[in-house]
Amino acid sequence: MRGDSSCNAGASPVYSPSAGKIMQRPVRLTRGVDAPLTALLRADLLAAGYTVDRLRQLWGDEADAALTRGDRVPARRALQAAEGPAAELARLFVLGEPVADEALGRALPSLGAEGARALGLVDAHGRALLDLRPYAAIDAGGAVQWVIASDLGELALGGALPPDHVLGVGGASLTLAALIPTEPVDSVLDLGTGCGIQSLHAGRHARRVVATDLSARALDRARLTLALNAVDAVELRQGDLYAPVAGERFDRIVSNPPFVITPRREGVPVYEYRDGGRVGDAIVEEVVRGAAEHLTLGGTAHLLGNWEYRDALGGDGLARVRRWIDEAGLDGWVVERERQSPAEYAATWIRDGGTRVGTPEYDALAAEWLDDFAARGVTAVGFGYIVLRRPSAPDAVRLLRTEVLGSPLGGTPTGIGDHLLAGLRAHDRIAAIDDAGLGALRLDVAPDVTEERHYWPGEENPTVIRLRQGGGFARTIEADAALAGLVGASDGELTVAEIVGALADLLEVDEGALRDDLLPRVRELVVTGFLLLAV
Ligand SMILES: C[S@@+](CC[C@H](N)C(=O)[O-])C[C@H]1O[C@@H](n2cnc3c(N)ncnc32)[C@H](O)[C@@H]1O
Repeated sequence: MRGDSSCNAGASPVYSPSAGKIMQRPVRLTRGVDAPLTALLRADLLAAGYTVDRLRQLWGDEADAALTRGDRVPARRALQAAEGPAAELARLFVLGEPVADEALGRALPSLGAEGARALGLVDAHGRALLDLRPYAAIDAGGAVQWVIASDLGELALGGALPPDHVLGVGGASLTLAALIPTEPVDSVLDLGTGCGIQSLHAGRHARRVVATDLSARALDRARLTLALNAVDAVELRQGDLYAPVAGERFDRIVSNPPFVITPRREGVPVYEYRDGGRVGDAIVEEVVRGAAEHLTLGGTAHLLGNWEYRDALGGDGLARVRRWIDEAGLDGWVVERERQSPAEYAATWIRDGGTRVGTPEYDALAAEWLDDFAARGVTAVGFGYIVLRRPSAPDAVRLLRTEVLGSPLGGTPTGIGDHLLAGLRAHDRIAAIDDAGLGALRLDVAPDVTEERHYWPGEENPTVIRLRQGGGFARTIEADAALAGLVGASDGELTVAEIVGALADLLEVDEGALRDDLLPRVRELVVTGFLLLAV
């Protein structure tokens, strides 16, 4: 099917274990879709009301939750009595059931069964050849309803994924979507576009998007996704990482790169959707370093990634990422959301490839993974978010911040891209002023900040004070009475210095010592969004 669906088969770079490096082949622009047939399909999908809400209404919340766990039985049962185009389309494209020509004709009346076959949507037996599913999201620009084209998943295939599988929207896709700021820019690069989901999101806030992928098959899926959502400001290009955009710069780069660390050994399956063909975390390093050559002045990159923690010789994982960013001359803010041991990491990705724990295949693969980690002295693997910025002026105060997220984010994060961009801007302003300047500022406590106090029974003074952020990373910080007092009194009326003076009186402590203690923490609260600078 790869050969059928692509005019670029054979145009991709390949990993050569003997050479130990990526072999470059030429970058190609990719072909178009059958526009008239795709327009008919789009019209039919809209008329069918093929939306997230409609499907949930058809099969209910429980079945919907079961589907996210890979269990289609409740949805299948719920649809047994359901009729109408949306139900037929869900049976075909989500549950992977064959649909007879007559029913397909009713579900897609303009396109018809013949048109569906000509577009490569179904085979001669009425089985779906790809996954077409509705998607809904809300960002600062409002709500969107899209249809996403990708390859059939394990559920519909009834087995393991092939190596050239094109992934649909998954958890990591949603996380990256939330990491994309909503401030409008001129140009965006979507590196490793897959089914095209990030181009749809990024395109809402950009005049033009260039989306790249190594996989011609992925670009075919992305092209269909874009056409089905009538988005034409995205240019698709095929090639390895930044090769298709050599010499070009963008205001924003977004990427959920194929960062999964995979042993480069015969017999270890390679999945294009998750593995960029490098050794260890070299692909993330390459994406980070390469951003310097492809960002406009002040431009930002928003990435997901893995980084290896290595033994004494190799170093701390976050410090390694920090070094890549520093050497590239970029600003960077790296947030580690999870850290796994080599064994946990291997298990996660071997299972993701469809191999069950306890089988001989699993044991053999786990040994390969652990050998590969041992060869580089890997002790753990971090996962998280990387935001980069090309400094807009040579004398700008650099930001090189790495942190481990203290409180786990419940569910899919929202709006973290805007939050981090606000943090970068707050850093620029606060880093440029000395403590006297900071003392003269009037700050406001952010509207999403609440305070929590715990007391021993009968005690007058709290034993624990916590400040909690409702948005952003939902950070919680421990505060003492002085910091909580300063945050509480920050309502834009008094300056920081006036509040510190009043607190020193109240707490009967030395004002200078209190100032020295509080001001660095105030800077941190400004960068992390607990305290807001006047606009
Ligand atoms: C994890 S998927 C991300 C897909 C999509 N952007 C998302 O957020 O859901 C990574 C994508 O990178 C592509 N890819 C793999 N190796 C690549 C390489 N060396 N250069 C460019 N893209 C690559 C894969 O084909 C895949 O579509």
